[in-house]
Amino acid sequence: MVKVKVNGKEFSYDGDPAMPLLWYVRDELRLTGTKFGCGMSLCGACTVHKDGVAVRSCITPMSAVDGAEITTVEGLGASGLHPVQKAWMQINVPQCGYCQPGQMMQAASLLKTKKNPTDEDIDAAMSGNICRCGTYQRIRAAVKAAAREMA
Ligand code: FES
Ligand code: FES
Repeated sequence: MVKVKVNGKEFSYDGDPAMPLLWYVRDELRLTGTKFGCGMSLCGACTVHKDGVAVRSCITPMSAVDGAEITTVEGLGASGLHPVQKAWMQINVPQCGYCQPGQMMQAASLLKTKKNPTDEDIDAAMSGNICRCGTYQRIRAAVKAAAREMA
């Protein structure tokens, strides 16, 4: 039995321990903000936080989240919009939007450890999050805007 907290609520899971967390949040909890892209840890669309750190839910088995706290994009702004979400809106970052939940979760994780990230910090932290629409310039600007708001 896996016990996991998702967006502040406790859940128990007794299915296949090898099932990816991505299917659990999307198909069982109906939290469809977290996206499937590659299924191989190559695109970042499925990024969530495990105990506050960005992880790829497509390669995280349920057995690895026993006792963990998971935050999805739906929980990121549980008590009002997160500064990252506000910055994404102000700068109109998304184009098609598909990659953006993962981008925001990765950015929020970065800003926990780097309060004032440089371009290099942002590029290093976000390089595993692919955007087919090429919104990288706006993502960089939005990460900096969120950092300013959080300062
Ligand atoms: S779907 Fe998980 S990294 Fe692409
Ligand atoms: S906004 Fe379309 S893939 Fe990133």
